[in-house]
Amino acid sequence: MTVTARPLVAGNWKMNGLRASLPEALSLVERLASGPAPACEIMICPPATLVSRLAEKVSGTPVRIGGQDCHADATGAHTGDVSAEMLADAGASAVIVGHSERRTDHGETDEQVNAKARAAWRAGLVAILCIGETEAERRGGKTLDVLSSQIAGSVPSGATAANSVIAYEPVWAIGSGLTPSVKDVAEAHAHIRAKLGAALGKKEAEAMRILYGGSVKPGNAAELMGIANVNGALVGGASLKATDFDGIINAYRR
Ligand code: PGA
Repeated sequence: MTVTARPLVAGNWKMNGLRASLPEALSLVERLASGPAPACEIMICPPATLVSRLAEKVSGTPVRIGGQDCHADATGAHTGDVSAEMLADAGASAVIVGHSERRTDHGETDEQVNAKARAAWRAGLVAILCIGETEAERRGGKTLDVLSSQIAGSVPSGATAANSVIAYEPVWAIGSGLTPSVKDVAEAHAHIRAKLGAALGKKEAEAMRILYGGSVKPGNAAELMGIANVNGALVGGASLKATDFDGIINAYRR
């Protein structure tokens, strides 16, 4: 198996980033943007209110900015929503779709996630498509079946290694401090790669980045990132602390 794309470490700030907490985060973004490039691509996904500000800050550097969600339509009467085109206009180059917090808090279905991924492509953004099982599903031995059905439903048929990234995020590992065993991560990622291969063809599937997300910290990043078929990380809580996010990127600095 040959994955050609550079690994990606993306920080998902979620609904955080008030003015008071910004200086530390902004200084990290500045340091990442001006420091020596690690062997991975770095992305920050701030709340929509900060996309244009951060995009200006990293303009001309290798650091990328992504949104956290988008509406499937390009424009229109959808109060409170942000379209992929608007994120692109603000300077984003990617958008997370189907995060489990969207699936849970807003009842997003695979069908809606699929439409959002296609909206991302329409706007020229990379879709970071999230999938992952709940604790009950894992306990019930259904993890691989859940991943198969989420891939079948959420990943549109036009997905390529250039326009899409998959993020495997076990729901029970998000924000909990818990992570699956190395064996379980390896099994899930190999399964995802195989399913992508069946759906999209071997070439695209082998080049597509599959991130692991869920309680990634400086202390476990090197081990998790070293697992076969893990091509980077989607980082929540630890991306808000400069030293922690930097420590995770260290997995790609040696
Ligand atoms: P976490 O979140 O790193 O805080 O567990 C990951 C995510 O939700 O993307």
